[in-house]
Amino acid sequence: MGPGPRRSSPGEPSPDLSESEIAVHWGEEAYVAPPAEFVRQANLGDPTAAQRFAPDRFPECFREYADLLRWRTPFASVLDASRPPFYRWYVGGTLNAAENCVDRHLAERGDQAAIVFVPEPESEPTVSVSYAELGRRVGELAAVLRDDLGLRTGDRVTIHLPMVPELPVTMLACARLGLVHSVVFAGFSGDAAGHRSADCGSRLFVTMDGYWRAGRPVDHLANLAPALAAAEQGGHPPERVLVWRRYADRRMSEVPLVEGRDLDARASVARHAGHSVPAVAQPSDAPLFLMYTSGTTGRPKGCQHATGGYLAYVAGTARAVLDLHPGDVYWCLADIGWITGHSYIVYGPLALGATTVVYEGVPAHPDPGRPWRVAERLGVRVFQTSPTAIRQLRRLGPERPRQHDLRFRLLATVGEPIEPEAWRWYHGEVGRGTAVVVDTWWQTETGGILCSTWPAIHPMKPGSCGPGAPGIRPVVLDEEGHEIAPGTGRAGNLCLRAPWPGLMQTIWGDPDRLVRQYFRKYNRDPESRDWRDWPYFAGDAALIAADGYVRILGRVDDVINVAGHRLGTKEIESACLAVPEVAEAAAVPVADELKGKVPDVYVALRPGVTVPPDEVGRRVARAIETAIGKIARPRRVHVVPDMPKTRSGKILRRVLAGLSNGREPGDVTTLANPEVVEQIREQIAGERPER
Ligand code: WTA
Repeated sequence: MGPGPRRSSPGEPSPDLSESEIAVHWGEEAYVAPPAEFVRQANLGDPTAAQRFAPDRFPECFREYADLLRWRTPFASVLDASRPPFYRWYVGGTLNAAENCVDRHLAERGDQAAIVFVPEPESEPTVSVSYAELGRRVGELAAVLRDDLGLRTGDRVTIHLPMVPELPVTMLACARLGLVHSVVFAGFSGDAAGHRSADCGSRLFVTMDGYWRAGRPVDHLANLAPALAAAEQGGHPPERVLVWRRYADRRMSEVPLVEGRDLDARASVARHAGHSVPAVAQPSDAPLFLMYTSGTTGRPKGCQHATGGYLAYVAGTARAVLDLHPGDVYWCLADIGWITGHSYIVYGPLALGATTVVYEGVPAHPDPGRPWRVAERLGVRVFQTSPTAIRQLRRLGPERPRQHDLRFRLLATVGEPIEPEAWRWYHGEVGRGTAVVVDTWWQTETGGILCSTWPAIHPMKPGSCGPGAPGIRPVVLDEEGHEIAPGTGRAGNLCLRAPWPGLMQTIWGDPDRLVRQYFRKYNRDPESRDWRDWPYFAGDAALIAADGYVRILGRVDDVINVAGHRLGTKEIESACLAVPEVAEAAAVPVADELKGKVPDVYVALRPGVTVPPDEVGRRVARAIETAIGKIARPRRVHVVPDMPKTRSGKILRRVLAGLSNGREPGDVTTLANPEVVEQIREQIAGERPER
């Protein structure tokens, strides 16, 4: 075992340094080598890999990923970078994503399970969907979409479905026709789903009657009315609603279907039994899907991913970094409603002909042995989940993995930094010390993994995700855009110098926002046609060690990463302002042992409000749940006399974050109302014993 972690907190920033430039000191963890047995069988094992993906091979190195796919028309060139930061990959090529994930496997692996559905209730049997069966279901649903609903290539479809096989089936049916899907995490409220639906002008909204979560049935159809109301308010209500049912013979919601608007999916598909429609070949840069994510402004933005570049990149990285082989039983314990699930539950594994597990429920239900029972029974060889899930499973059942016959070859983590203690449990107990662990860093915007050790080539180092994935060159830049050399111990903004095929194409309906948010910061010449002048700004603070391994420190913008789920502080704040008594609101991240971060909310009330503070707090919490969903529920709502403000009236969230985290708020002399800091501090101290 390596030396214990010696983490120290960055301390108070000095005024002339940005938060991301603070020097961070920690003990370097010892390397852990991948076992020889793993190396022998690895997809990316041969020593020439580094040369193949060397900087001078850019962009041709990414031909290797595209070659994993079936192209209807071969592409003429790998990259058109003539209009940075808008790139076109595999130019001239056409393909269909569903054909790549389903049809082309039929001859060789039609009987193999494509999807294994594990319902949350253990009394319900696991359902195995073979590639042949998946092809049939996707074809029938595509016939419904095309012939009953009249949807055409390029139309948008919002999908608000839980973790059931109908979710990937619906995504693939859209892809088969070239419809652009936009999946909204089922845990998001109807409101949130409706706003996203309106933003991209979806013609169809897909939902389900109910599902199981943490031992309870969820009436999901109850979200439909608020979703449609929000979409109406947004000016683009969907024309039709397609409603799946969780069970053939009973209903999980009492909400009735509305004739003329709602279509029963099971019945419609049954009417098309045996039908299919041809997969429509799409230009490589036709949009495949949108995924909405939170950023620095209030409105979530629709990251638009392209068919060819995205699919090649997720297939390539699933093969290289997750080491997926055709036929592997693979389980990514995450939700398809987030980018991780799109790339590494659905598109990546299915493009490679693996078997992908879709688990309906929460990880530790009914007990923390659940994932290990499932993995043992199904013979899962490659497993992936979030550090939050790992921390929870470890806390609730540290000895559970040892009670099962687990044979993981590779274990992946994604979504948040994983601390060395949790890493070592994952590697030692879950992986028995013989599985390779990859800590993968990436984002909704990046489509696929950007930083990770190459599992058979680089030794692992707990607490660091590793160097760039094949063909990817991470750099850390200071505020002026100078590169901070690896090994200096200084942190800065994590950036990518060159584009890659998984990078989103644009923000739906707002290409300027792509430029503003991700490229303007370090672009000196907006007219430049050279991609070298357009580094991608990821919005994460990081530091690169002398060995080139990246350590992620966290977001530098207004995003709170709750259990690996991205929430915008501005979205939370605007939800608070929906409560009439609230005049001002500020949401700040608080460190949480299990979830990484959780939001704390501060609100100041309008003058003359007579509602008791506790009641306002409850209303605010409810408003957040309605606008976003339960995942955004604040740890606490503090009703304060006033917000700490600069003389120009800006709320100083950093001061509030300091107070919430029990840190010194730092220099408050620049505040217009420094006395309020002391008042809030006393108020928080008074609140604490309640918890
Ligand atoms: C964080 C999830 C540390 C990071 C795929 C990033 C991580 C945000 C890691 C993206 C990791 C993701 N270590 N932090 N291995 N992976 N993050 O868009 O802050 O939901 O910017 O994509 O999660 O979250 P998103």
